[in-house]
Amino acid sequence: GAQPNWFVEDVVEEKIKELKKKTRGNVLVAVSGGVDSITTATIMLRVFGSNSVHIVFVDTGLLREGEPERVLKTLKSLGFEHIHFVDAKKLFLSRLKGVTDPEEKRKIIAETFREIFVSTVMEVEKKYGQINYLAQGTIYPDRVESGKTSRATAKIKSHHNVVMGQLPGIEILEPLADFYKDEVRKIALKLGIPEEIVYQHPFPGPGLAVRIIGEVTEDKLSILRKATKIVEEEFLKSGWYRKVWQAFPVLLSLKTVGVKGDVRSYEYVVALRVVESEDAMTANFVKLPWELLDRISHRITNEVEGVNRVLYDITNKPPATIEFE
Ligand code: XMP
Repeated sequence: GAQPNWFVEDVVEEKIKELKKKTRGNVLVAVSGGVDSITTATIMLRVFGSNSVHIVFVDTGLLREGEPERVLKTLKSLGFEHIHFVDAKKLFLSRLKGVTDPEEKRKIIAETFREIFVSTVMEVEKKYGQINYLAQGTIYPDRVESGKTSRATAKIKSHHNVVMGQLPGIEILEPLADFYKDEVRKIALKLGIPEEIVYQHPFPGPGLAVRIIGEVTEDKLSILRKATKIVEEEFLKSGWYRKVWQAFPVLLSLKTVGVKGDVRSYEYVVALRVVESEDAMTANFVKLPWELLDRISHRITNEVEGVNRVLYDITNKPPATIEFE
């Protein structure tokens, strides 16, 4: 993070050269679909060549509408040959059944992910031979945040270390560990990663599960997916998407009374969270135009069955975090 921005792309080219010299064998990358992991995987493609790069992508069932398909398409277009897709939707949902505590949810998701990851690595090794490296998309702020053990950011991102203990001889590569998000985006563009990926907002590892207060159910996920799609569409259409750090709805597992078509309704409340930030360590809520808020509120209450009220979060971080759980 100390380098001036114009220098960042050269630093990465140097890193690729250096890694080419000192590595041999196969590398595996767990891809979430975010810019950090896709950039890491693309660097690995340059270092190892497509035949030696293995991608693991897990559908947790906690992703947004159309996301698994979108990620797979992107990976194929970037030239990855060995993409190991795991459909774990049922497993995650069944393990989350009845769980309401945020830390408990995060723990279950992290553990389930780790389990799936370990068994996938073993399957890949059986078929393709020894995996020598695990590459992960850790960026500079992640390392700073790792000190915080109360939230699962560190846990999710450290699952590879656990794997390493069980699969001796595997070395961790973190080619983005010195960079901030804006620098990663510059690197990603230079590596030919499409702009829609590069400028994507961050999305948490535990996915929509931390944007549903209380128990995660199929019904609530379906409601939140629809609301999320509307928010993304309106932000892209209005040109606000690239001006903010994150913009997303949260499903409060709370129902209030309303009127829809002259009839009393008793439905969920959605909170809209929109923040600006440099590195997610601190953040400010965005003073959005009322017209945009109005449009989003209208669309959500009209188009999403089960929601009759939309609130706007006017809290900064600190004291609130960006996510609600
Ligand atoms: P908070 O809610 O802690 O979020 O203010 C800071 C940034 O981190 C993202 N976030 C996560 N990312 N795994 C991740 O990979 C997680 O468990 C996780 N929790 C929060 C959040 O979206 C925000 O950008």
